[in-house]
Amino acid sequence: MDFSSEFSDCIELPPTLHVGCPNVGDRDLFHRLVDEIFSSRRLTNDGPVVAELESKLCEYLGVRHCVTVCNATLGLQLACRALDLTGEVIVPSFTFVASAHALQWEGVTPVFADVDPIRHTIDPDHVARLVTSRTTGILGVHLWGSPCNPTELAQLASDHGLRLFFDAAHAFGCGNHGKMVGQSGECEVFSFHATKFFNTFEGGAIATNDDALAAKIRRMRSFGFAGVDHVVGIGTNAKMNEVCGAMGLSMFADLESILQCNRRHYLNYRDGLAGIDGVRLFSLDHLEHCNWQYIVVEIDESEFGCSRDDVMRSLHDVGVLARRYFYPGCHRMEPYRTLYRERIDRLPVTERLCDSVLCLPTGSALRESDVDRVCAAIRSLADAKRSVIRRAV
Ligand SMILES: Cc1ncc(COP(=O)(O)O)c(C=O)c1O
Repeated sequence: MDFSSEFSDCIELPPTLHVGCPNVGDRDLFHRLVDEIFSSRRLTNDGPVVAELESKLCEYLGVRHCVTVCNATLGLQLACRALDLTGEVIVPSFTFVASAHALQWEGVTPVFADVDPIRHTIDPDHVARLVTSRTTGILGVHLWGSPCNPTELAQLASDHGLRLFFDAAHAFGCGNHGKMVGQSGECEVFSFHATKFFNTFEGGAIATNDDALAAKIRRMRSFGFAGVDHVVGIGTNAKMNEVCGAMGLSMFADLESILQCNRRHYLNYRDGLAGIDGVRLFSLDHLEHCNWQYIVVEIDESEFGCSRDDVMRSLHDVGVLARRYFYPGCHRMEPYRTLYRERIDRLPVTERLCDSVLCLPTGSALRESDVDRVCAAIRSLADAKRSVIRRAV
């Protein structure tokens, strides 16, 4: 997460360039809505602003239901419970730890699958090998906004009678093969955390086309209430408040310009990093819809001349706070590291990516010259390494 990467004010550019600097929507609209919220005294509990946001989300994603939540971690927990998951659920290890924690918190064992080396999403062949009699579901993660292969995963789920849902934390506004993320599996969980493409400070939404599932999640999100004084089951408090809803509406007002800004940065990175040996930019070119929110490079140590960690440290030295998402992989973090000790070395692609991936800053707070500055820093490090190697030969 993106925990160290927020700023109180990104209008004046911060002295350092961070990964995850928030995108800010239409501020005038936000202030107007917050004024209205104060006047109406409806601060939370399914107020009109959140209701409007939910209906805009449904329209944008092309789904029947969007249940907003106060963050995606609780959204994943609600989905896990609402889908009646027990035993084991297969999930990639190469993801933010919340994907695994949400399962574990609900008493479900995350079983870690490897990922595809090009797309960085869960490898369906490995998933097939991990299914046991205790498996009840598959949680795919659309990492960097690149959708998992929903057809293969749906086939697997249907062959084995498993529930299929997605962690779509990175993938708001992404889609492929005529389908927006949000429409696949039984439900998909978005994060609207401050560092995400679309943010509501903190927040998220569960998208589904299943009426009964949506109604169940709505009840669980609000203490199990099915009506006034009428509790029908266990619930928690995962509601989004009205001010977060207002932030969401103000993001919608500026979404296209933020998206285009991200896209320009991606293309500038692609040009600026082209031809540097040992640096491979994660390609988003194949997507029909993309939010371009993640600039991900893989550093090949033998070609570049130094390790990913050396590159990261060099960038930090010049005020570019690149991050090694998602190091060291969930399977190497507690409690999973201890719980699954005997399986720790079975994820070769994940291991390689955890050692080679670096995320670079982007977002609407960055200027084009900032992107040039990051690319120039990487290029000059590559040149320096090459001349050292030449001198040694
Ligand atoms: C892949 C992934 N899943 C889940 C989450 C959790 O989202 P939230 O911060 O809204 O709880 C994140 C947050 O960074 C994430 O990157």
